[in-house]
Formats: sequence, structure tokens, C-alpha cells
Amino acid sequence: MLDLHTHILPGIDDGAADVGQALDMAAKAVADGVRIAAATPHFDALPDWDRLKIAVNDLQTELDQAAIPLQLVSGAELYIDPQTAALPNIPTYGDQGRYVLIEFPMREIPGYARDAVFKLQVRGLTPIIAHPERYADVLADPNCLREWIDLGCLLQMNSGSLLGLFGSQVEETARILLAHDMVHLMASDGHSTGRRGMTMREGVQALEAIVSSAAIRELTETIPKRILEGEGVSSKTPKLYRPKRRFWLFGRRRAGR
Ligand SMILES: [Fe+2]
Repeated sequence: MLDLHTHILPGIDDGAADVGQALDMAAKAVADGVRIAAATPHFDALPDWDRLKIAVNDLQTELDQAAIPLQLVSGAELYIDPQTAALPNIPTYGDQGRYVLIEFPMREIPGYARDAVFKLQVRGLTPIIAHPERYADVLADPNCLREWIDLGCLLQMNSGSLLGLFGSQVEETARILLAHDMVHLMASDGHSTGRRGMTMREGVQALEAIVSSAAIRELTETIPKRILEGEGVSSKTPKLYRPKRRFWLFGRRRAGR
């Protein structure tokens, strides 16, 4: 498996506190079947792409010395604000200048987000939207993601969302997105060990009850691999989500009595 969203770099953001914890996270990931992980710290914690790439090399050396067979790839999680798209150095996976992991404010996808995404695309980049199932706008209306897919964005779901880490509404929304072809890849967004850790194996176990094994392979291997190779990812045609009208049915039943 490939895990393209982790906060494994020690001492950069709210992820791994030190090298020891980063190695523990990596050992767990390897035991779970992860062979490649992208280090994607919050870019605003250290907005220096060159230094982040050095930090990835340093941690790779630690992993090699500890004989933990996890291959790291450089990356970052880019918080979208009105200035983001104008940054001189946009962090992309493996520095290949193709795919960039972005996140929006949780409470509201702001009006400038579309413009920022467009500007990134003009620079030849494909935005990957981190954990869409956690955004308030998506919880309110999962179908709003159809527009972002139509615009050419990819969507990355967190394994922890499926495991109830962010509450039942996020979990339910993650399931809805999967069932309606609105997820391109799953990643852990692991920040530490334990519940907020690199939970790809647990995420796959949850996926097994929702999608086919072929779909799981796409979400955890095929598409992440294409992203790291800078290859195109075939577009999805999301299905329209039609919410169950529970209250209406309840009312009908009562009326029928
Ligand atoms: Fe993250």
C-alpha cells in the first residue's frame, strides 16, 4: 500500500514529536503493508520546501539505519488561502511538479477556493483535496464534491474517518462518498501512534465492508502510485447522492396508523 498523507516528519508540525515516534509510526505502517509513505506536513508550519525535502532525507536515513523498509516521498499539505496559488514554490509530491495536496478551512469552503484551485491548475498542477468528508459544507451536502471533481480535483479520504475518529457524521459521509464514486484515494493523515496513527490496515478492513477488493486496490495502490509517478488519473463520474428522507417516511407511517 501507499500512504500519501502523513505527518511523520518529526518536530515540524503537530505530527510526530520526535524521531523515536516517527520510527514507531513507520514500523507500524510497514507491519500493516505500507511500503511507500509521503511526508506531508502542514506547509504553513514550515513554508520552506527545500528544508522540508532535507528533513525527508534525514528521516529516510534514520529509517534505513533502523532497518525499517519504508520509502519516504516528499510532500506537504497546503492550506488554501487567497495567496496560496501565488507562492513561488508549491510543494508537490516527490517534487515532480504535478500533484499538490491541499486543504480548505473545515468550517466553510471559502469563495476564493475555486479561484485558488484554478490558479494552481494554470501552473500545471492537479490539486488533491485532503479529507473532504471532514468539511462542514460536505457534511451538509456531499453532492457539492461533484463540482470539485468536475473541475479536475482528486479527493483523498482519511482512513480515520471510516473508523469513527472524527465522529459518526464524518464516518457516515465517508461511506456516502465511497458509495457514490467521490473518493480517489485513501490515506491515513497519521499524526502519531495510536488512534491518530497511520491506520491504513484498519481503514482497509473498514473498506472491505463497503467496496470491492478491486476498488480497495485502486484507492490504496493503483491511484496513489500513478500520483507519485506524475501520471494522469482517469476521471470519475460521481453518482448523485439522494439523501434518505427519514423524517418524511416517519411522518407517512404515523399518518397511516
Ligand atoms: Fe493532514
